[in-house]
Amino acid sequence: MKKYIYLIALLIGIVSLSYTNLSNKKQSGDKSASAYYSEQYRPQFHFSPQKGWMNDPNGMVYYAGEYHLFYQYYPDSTVWGPMHWGHAVSKDLIHWEHLPIALYPDSIGYIFSGSAVVDWKNTTGFGSVENPPLVAIFTYHNMDREKSGKIDYENQGIAYSLDKGRTWNKYQNNPVLHNPGVKDFRDPKVLWHEGTQKWNLILSAHDRVKIYSSGNLKDWQPESEFGSDAGAHGGVWECPDLFPLKVNAGGQTKWVMIVNMNPGGPNGGSGTQYFVGDYDGHEFTAASKETSWLDYGRDNYAGVTWSDVPKEDGRRLFLGWMSNWNYATVVPTDVWRSAMTVPRELKLEEIDGKFLVKSEPVHELNQLQDQASKITFAEEQISGEKKLDTKDINLNQCELVLNLETGKSTADSLCLILENGSGEAVKIGYSNKSKQFFVDRTKSGNMNFSDRFSGIDYAPYSIGKQVQLHLFIDAASIEIFVDEGKLVMTDLFFSSENFNALKIFSSGGDVLLQKVEIVGLKRIW
Ligand code: FRU
Repeated sequence: MKKYIYLIALLIGIVSLSYTNLSNKKQSGDKSASAYYSEQYRPQFHFSPQKGWMNDPNGMVYYAGEYHLFYQYYPDSTVWGPMHWGHAVSKDLIHWEHLPIALYPDSIGYIFSGSAVVDWKNTTGFGSVENPPLVAIFTYHNMDREKSGKIDYENQGIAYSLDKGRTWNKYQNNPVLHNPGVKDFRDPKVLWHEGTQKWNLILSAHDRVKIYSSGNLKDWQPESEFGSDAGAHGGVWECPDLFPLKVNAGGQTKWVMIVNMNPGGPNGGSGTQYFVGDYDGHEFTAASKETSWLDYGRDNYAGVTWSDVPKEDGRRLFLGWMSNWNYATVVPTDVWRSAMTVPRELKLEEIDGKFLVKSEPVHELNQLQDQASKITFAEEQISGEKKLDTKDINLNQCELVLNLETGKSTADSLCLILENGSGEAVKIGYSNKSKQFFVDRTKSGNMNFSDRFSGIDYAPYSIGKQVQLHLFIDAASIEIFVDEGKLVMTDLFFSSENFNALKIFSSGGDVLLQKVEIVGLKRIW
């Protein structure tokens, strides 16, 4: 009898051990939990929530060896609802560990977008200099006030954590920044301004941004506003950001202001514009009031940058939400909805007196390359159609680099085609006549969920003697970086089966392909 009891106890032990193991694996991203994160259209190397609805990245801050990513989250449905802040951390920007929800809606309102900082000097008094608090600054959106016709239903609140973001306390005197009577008054991004030794807060106020300052993150004074007479105004301004960048990685510093806007993006719906100029801790002066777009695809929105990246690193790291409000709530995924873009490094260049913010995929992505799968195609002149033998690389989970010698090419246009056996395709190309890149997803598969999804996205671009295309494809998304991120296009597609052919097509002449390199990417989950 005793023997049996032992045996049963042993069995229970084994079962519970392997269960704990599996859930640990899920947390840490071990590959052996292979059913995990393998639903149709599930991104394999992009961040997406385990289940439920996600939109904007929030509160991105680096602290104690971890990149924090919070996000607009509704755990109970795959469509938008009462907003929480979901939470994940990563040591390398690539592999993510899911953590419990950081902020829940409360009697003041839903928890809309915002930012987080390390309060190194303990200006809030929430912690100590030895254990500085992480402080989150977010918008409280009060649905009851909105429904009752009031316009001041968005106010800013703060919360803090003293245990590396694991638990959060909302400040008892919230909200800290009251609505001055503006209908859209949200998405605060906070930065520490060295020159004035003050916190600055930039937030969107309908058709402009407003800037505030504070010594303690609790009491805010208005400083200035920007934008009512600048940039694109096809929609509401949302999710701004403001940060310094070195020009051409050299000595001169300029300030970049990011302003997301919905609708009115360059190819319809949501889009991200930016301005470059000077900032003194009080006021932003743009070098040009014209809009520049950070991404010409339709699926990169609400992106902002990480706070407190160590000086030794020095990068300005960006992440966007890979969707578009035109159809975000109806894209054909079941368990979860939406993913983030790959993390990108922003760099500032001055070219012919004009400022350009480049986005490059972060170098940490290189670790995902499955070197054994890598194929390099030698230089070749192409006329008409050429199918590349991509062997057994999964074209829905790969990275592709394509160098073209345009000086020795005569073609009117060039097209890269990803195709599957069902006749579905995504086409990426360049037209010499119109001087435009394009992404054509008109035949990309499932599109009947929205009549605003299909279509061709265009991006103006003058190519030089050589051009490089760098692509990341992951399940249902494609990110295209042209010439080290001088032009970026991020687009979703929902093909009914994986791509199995990669073709290059030149029309009206030939094209010299200098080098094509393709490599499979490992999954992160
Ligand atoms: C942008 C946005 C923000 C807002 C949040 C709500 O996508 O509309 O302006 O804070 O989403 O979820």
